[in-house]
Amino acid sequence: MLNTNQIADLEKIRTPYYLYDIRLLEKTVEEVRFLSEKYGIEVHYAVKANSEPRILRYIAGKGLGADCVSGNEVVCALENGFPAGKIAFAGVGKTDEEIEIALRTGIFAMVCESLHEISVVDEIASGLGIRASIMVRINPNIDAHTHKYITTGLDDNKFGISEHEFGALVELLGKCRSVDFRGLHFHIGSQITEVEEVFSLECMRARSIVSYFESAGLNVDNIDLGGGLGVDYEDPDMNPVPDFRTWFATIAEGMEPFRGKRIHVEPGRSIVAQCGSLITKVLYVKNGLRKTFLITDAGMNDLIRPALYGAYHKVENISASTDRQGSLRPYDIVGPVCESSDVWGEGRMLPETFRGDLLAIRSAGAYGQVMASRYNLRDLAKACYSDDPCGQNNY
Ligand code: LLP
Repeated sequence: MLNTNQIADLEKIRTPYYLYDIRLLEKTVEEVRFLSEKYGIEVHYAVKANSEPRILRYIAGKGLGADCVSGNEVVCALENGFPAGKIAFAGVGKTDEEIEIALRTGIFAMVCESLHEISVVDEIASGLGIRASIMVRINPNIDAHTHKYITTGLDDNKFGISEHEFGALVELLGKCRSVDFRGLHFHIGSQITEVEEVFSLECMRARSIVSYFESAGLNVDNIDLGGGLGVDYEDPDMNPVPDFRTWFATIAEGMEPFRGKRIHVEPGRSIVAQCGSLITKVLYVKNGLRKTFLITDAGMNDLIRPALYGAYHKVENISASTDRQGSLRPYDIVGPVCESSDVWGEGRMLPETFRGDLLAIRSAGAYGQVMASRYNLRDLAKACYSDDPCGQNNY
């Protein structure tokens, strides 16, 4: 629990805002660095999870690479200290302009997701007189056992190239004049909690696909297994640092036969989710016929995950003093946006809560601030940092 001085500091800041726990970010990145060195696995942080400059600069400073999904993310990664040689750029729908940015900046690899895209990249690279370094994203047809909106590796998903086109892919790569093939890429989904089961299956599929392409004459020097490690949304204090140990160990073991190759991963959520909370103020306490509503000044435009995926985020009353913590009562906690899905949680047990109390919506560091919108013409929530909550970064 926060002490009175910390709460007093947080109360000075205009709500709603994202509060990032810098110590936890440091601890998490340290763990990732340690394991990546131990197992010799290269890590590209998935910028889409959180692209706050201070967070990016910290991660880049620790030597991690970046996984980007738009030209703007590539530029943002470069501006915040990621070297071009450590940037991968995936995405099913890269525009010609985005392809040009990637080619001109000389990133590690463009991850192509269709045969058509490879031909276009080859053509653009030839026109520019530049060689294109590419990886090819494969759709391995694996069920990641996660929410259907964040499953990406099944035949019916739009991502990657499926088995029926493998032959045509080998033929196409043989014909390309300006493309250097660097390796294969897999990413099967996000918020995966059955870590050993799902990732060992991914490795098994990756091994057989890599062998297929090598026997067809391609050198698969790099194998990228994507991101996807899940975090504990139910109990972020119990598991503030996700289970990177099991994840890295599973991948290292699964890729053991390809030890000589460069193995990469692209974690996003697992690095930043637990570091962030959305801090919001209770505006009103409203007695419905059967429920008591807490109406907050943060809404689904600030954090869309509950409305979009039905995602669970733990909510805490950080203003309630210890004597209030004893007796809990059920509240429906809702935002101010004109949509019935603008709900943080129903029947959540909280201490008696009053107008002006601060609530923390936990585990909001990934896919929170980056997915915010100005719906209802609301202002965008800003970022604050635990080591300097009222500092200049805040407004
Ligand atoms: N690599 C690729 C190619 C990806 O598409 C993604 C995420 C990642 C890496 C990072 O995955 P992570 O480690 O964060 O699971 N907005 C959704 C999540 C969408 C994930 C999209 N791709 C959510 O809020 O749950």
